Amino acid sequence: MRYYLGIETSCDETAAAIVDDNYNIISNIIFSQQKIHSPYFGVVPELASRMHYEKIHFVVKKAFKNFDIKKIHLITYTEKPGLKGALLIGKIVAKTLGYIFSIPTLGVDHLWGHIYSVILSYKGKIKFPFISLIISGGHTELSLVKSFTKRKILGNTRDDAVGEAFDKVAKLLSLSYPGGPVIEKLAKLGNPKSINFPRPYMLDSWDFSFSGLKTAVLYYVNSLKSSKIQPSTLDRQLISDICASFQEAVVETLTTKIIHATKKLNCNRVCISGGVSANEYLREKFLNLAKKNNLEVYFPQKNLSTDNAAMIAALGKYFYN
Ligand code: KG4
Ligand code: ZN
Repeated sequence: MRYYLGIETSCDETAAAIVDDNYNIISNIIFSQQKIHSPYFGVVPELASRMHYEKIHFVVKKAFKNFDIKKIHLITYTEKPGLKGALLIGKIVAKTLGYIFSIPTLGVDHLWGHIYSVILSYKGKIKFPFISLIISGGHTELSLVKSFTKRKILGNTRDDAVGEAFDKVAKLLSLSYPGGPVIEKLAKLGNPKSINFPRPYMLDSWDFSFSGLKTAVLYYVNSLKSSKIQPSTLDRQLISDICASFQEAVVETLTTKIIHATKKLNCNRVCISGGVSANEYLREKFLNLAKKNNLEVYFPQKNLSTDNAAMIAALGKYFYN
């Protein structure tokens, strides 16, 4: 049996995990920096690097609590994309451990990591090809995954990623960071049909654009301000209605685009990953649609939706040769 150590420090999670060849997770330690960044409603790169530097030792040590590092076959670390200073901390730790214990190291792609969060959740039992939709804080990517190591990128974020739109809408509603979970929670109390926000389908392209939708929410809130209602004093029901209507617009845009992709690409298998894939409303809508359209839809385990190192460790099996 081979064991892989993964190290993830691309954004605001300091994480280390050990995964075996059969996609069993031996340990999966995550230190989230959310509390540190929340006053700024977004990740502050310099603070992120400093926190990684402070916490990585403790996180890696914890991952090896009941495991001998000498059994590790390969150390993978997130090489790109991400915050430069933050990535550097993970790389230095991986290289140092590799040097001391004579273990090879491999820099890997974080977005492949998100795709592997699904493969890992299903213990490698997903057939190819499949359409991958990554919806995270920094990326919205549509690709066709042909094998464990080959994917054809079809479309990308033109401006705000989906998660970024959730975070910015939360900010303009004076909620908290990260925006996704709080908007999802409030949306449960609101009416998704109450405000008709635009749906940026862009069906003539595989790209995505969510900044217009975010701006539509801003204009809506500003129109309330000019009618003398301050966002911080907005009625709870109104905030919940805005959250539910915004979430509905996002989900409808994504589901429409995916259905379109499955038809155009003649592929009925879809994997959805990245932080926003933790959203229960989105999962439910996709699963209902899957039933109606005869699709296979796969999501990662909830705890593997947001950034983690298990998905990074899992890349070792096929990407290292
Ligand atoms: O994948 P991730 O952890 O980090 C990046 O690679 O960017 O994604 C973080 C993003 C944040 O923007 C956060 O607001 C969003 O995922 N998110 C959610 C939910 N949980 C996290 N968005 C919607 N609903 C959620 N439940
Ligand atoms: Zn991510």
